[in-house]
Amino acid sequence: MSLTFPLTATSAPASAERVAEIHADPGFGVYFTDHMAVATWRQGSGWGEDAVVPYGPFQLDPSTAVLHYAQEVFEGLKAYRQPDGSIWLFRPERNAERLQASARRLMLPELPVEDFLTSVEQLVRADAAWTPDAQGGEASLYLRPFMFANESFLGVRAAHVVSYAVIASPVGPYFAGGVKPVNIWVTDEYSRAGKGGTGAAKCGGNYASSLIAQYEGAEHGCSQVLFGDAGSGVNTEELGGMNLMVVTTDGELITPALTGTILEGVTRDSILTVAADLGLRPVQRVITLAEIFDRVDAGEIVEAFACGTAAVLTPVAEFRSRQGDHVVGAEPGERTMQIRSAILDIQYGRAADSHGWMRRVV
Ligand code: COI
Repeated sequence: MSLTFPLTATSAPASAERVAEIHADPGFGVYFTDHMAVATWRQGSGWGEDAVVPYGPFQLDPSTAVLHYAQEVFEGLKAYRQPDGSIWLFRPERNAERLQASARRLMLPELPVEDFLTSVEQLVRADAAWTPDAQGGEASLYLRPFMFANESFLGVRAAHVVSYAVIASPVGPYFAGGVKPVNIWVTDEYSRAGKGGTGAAKCGGNYASSLIAQYEGAEHGCSQVLFGDAGSGVNTEELGGMNLMVVTTDGELITPALTGTILEGVTRDSILTVAADLGLRPVQRVITLAEIFDRVDAGEIVEAFACGTAAVLTPVAEFRSRQGDHVVGAEPGERTMQIRSAILDIQYGRAADSHGWMRRVV
């Protein structure tokens, strides 16, 4: 039986004035809407207890498994308000499928795609007023579905009780400077994911382990970190929380191939499609860090950008490392901005959705 996520509305919703105040300066992931979607999986009976309820804290026993063994996965997608007031999701089925893949890797139960979509849509409907207008930029309602081991038990095994929830946060740009190019720290000390590890899964542990390198980067004026592969450190993998792409003078858009240690970004996949529409040649292959740096220095790689749901496309200004700096450019590249606009125009309904990516909710 499919889940329906019926609404139990809050008796104390935020006022229209308060929502407007938040929309005027939302930041990223700071404010949350009036409701959240929840469901529980129990071994033997499966998924149930689904509802949209007032937003509020979970009560967790100190022995709850996720607090000890990090059996947790999550997703990130956005709801976009289009000029006619309607609200749409961008390729949410891809997030549903990736959550299933992440859950399999972390020994969590799979949530059926239809139930994922219902949970997200019911929440967006309940909190529709929280979805900002595009405001000339990239304001949206960021949706964070997640699932965690919610069983009180200290043995190391897959939990028999699992909680699923979706929360929503009105957001502006992920990086405070908007599309201002960012510096990237290339770590030679830490790696993100090894062969056979959890690199392709969207699990909290990947992000927790990236923090130390990110903070190292911050000391060098960088807002993201780039990892090489865990084996040799030679091949380019991904950033702390997003994928990386570079543009060459001869019209290639190159991004590291999906080798099992890289997150299969929905934005990454969409950009590869849109770039081909724009006349670039998308290339997914193993690319060494040395090739990127040499070709940046030689003027053959002329643009680089980070991409993800949260950051959309964020241009890279410089790659910095202990061995030296490689300057791409202080201004956003032309191709980067073209691709960025093409993606945002589809999401905000300003361009035809020729790939059938958008799904209307309200
Ligand atoms: C996203 O892009 O949605 C992510 O989950 C990455 C995180 C850096 C916010």
